[in-house]
Amino acid sequence: MNLLDELHEEAVSLIPPVYAELPSEEMEKKIWKIKKELGSRLFIPGHHYQKDEVIQFADCTGDSLQLAQAAAENKEAEHIVFCGVHFMAETADMLTESRQNVYLPDMRAGCSMADMADIQQTERAWEQLTAQFGDTIIPLTYVNSTAAIKAFVGRNGGAAVTSSNAAKIVAWALKQKKRILFLPDQHLGRNTAFDLGIPLKNMAVWNPVKETLEYEGNPEELTILLWKGHCSVHEKFTEKNIAHIRNTKPEMKIIVHPECTHEVVQLSDMAGSTKYIIDQISKAEPGSKWAVGTEMNLVSRLIATHPDKEIVSLNPYMCPCLTMNRIDLAHLLWSLESIAEGKEINRIKVSVEVTRHAVLALNRMLSI
Ligand code: 13P
Ligand code: SF4
Repeated sequence: MNLLDELHEEAVSLIPPVYAELPSEEMEKKIWKIKKELGSRLFIPGHHYQKDEVIQFADCTGDSLQLAQAAAENKEAEHIVFCGVHFMAETADMLTESRQNVYLPDMRAGCSMADMADIQQTERAWEQLTAQFGDTIIPLTYVNSTAAIKAFVGRNGGAAVTSSNAAKIVAWALKQKKRILFLPDQHLGRNTAFDLGIPLKNMAVWNPVKETLEYEGNPEELTILLWKGHCSVHEKFTEKNIAHIRNTKPEMKIIVHPECTHEVVQLSDMAGSTKYIIDQISKAEPGSKWAVGTEMNLVSRLIATHPDKEIVSLNPYMCPCLTMNRIDLAHLLWSLESIAEGKEINRIKVSVEVTRHAVLALNRMLSI
């Protein structure tokens, strides 16, 4: 089920127009007040790609892996207001107890990459690929996927991965089976497998629209089957952007997220998850210079946090992830006021059946 289908299943409400009239300072005051009143009954996780106006209220900030772990560890909060995108809130719902409610302040905060693999397409792909390769494939899914895809992966013996632990989990998977089906981000799958020493000729791309496997050479040698999905934000960093930095600022280090294309990752100096990028820049020498290939809210925060370093976006025309950006002060306030009034607005509730299998994939990831 993709996000649109799920939106029809879940009770979706749109923000009342009155919030558009409120000045930011008033909204901030109200949010602080509700946060204080609810205390530890409320937990607000915030992904690093959220805007500053939202991140200031986060009880915990992190990348996908850190937020999944934080949700799994928090046993106290009754209300978890997830400042991130839909698949992250679903993951939080599945890893928390049934008495804990998870909300997404704006139900339109989806992820275009997660929507590139729906469960029907995935079941058909699996049928075709297992008919061709037999019982030699283990599925892995990037956490940027719907709960239904995670359940498919869990049911079939696979695990979820994030950009922080992808290398570890791909290495684990290759000890279980000869082949991996990697959903839904072809770039993270390709970059990770390549770093582990698997040549490109051993990788194929599953095209879910044409329902064909795209490859050159001998199919028997294929070990990595990549779903043809991508992040529309990270694909905007190009080889041209890299050439421009090399020509104009050769002293700059280029650091990118592995959701960027293989060519961009290969031409960069360093590549790694959101946490890796933050850590590398934080521990770098004052005066060091960085061109960063990742989401713009995070790059802007890095620029503001490290005035002693020169930091630019690798693509000067980059904009933030638009779905992450849907969570703003007004939606956060609306969500908190609804909770304070005892209403369940935009609650994320994954079915028991889907959760049962999806947590297998998530727990395998968390335990590897
Ligand atoms: P990480 O948080 O795992 O680095 O993923 C980045 C991302 O695109 C989240 O949507
Ligand atoms: Fe999805 Fe890319 Fe936005 Fe992350 S940055 S939420 S992968 S579209």
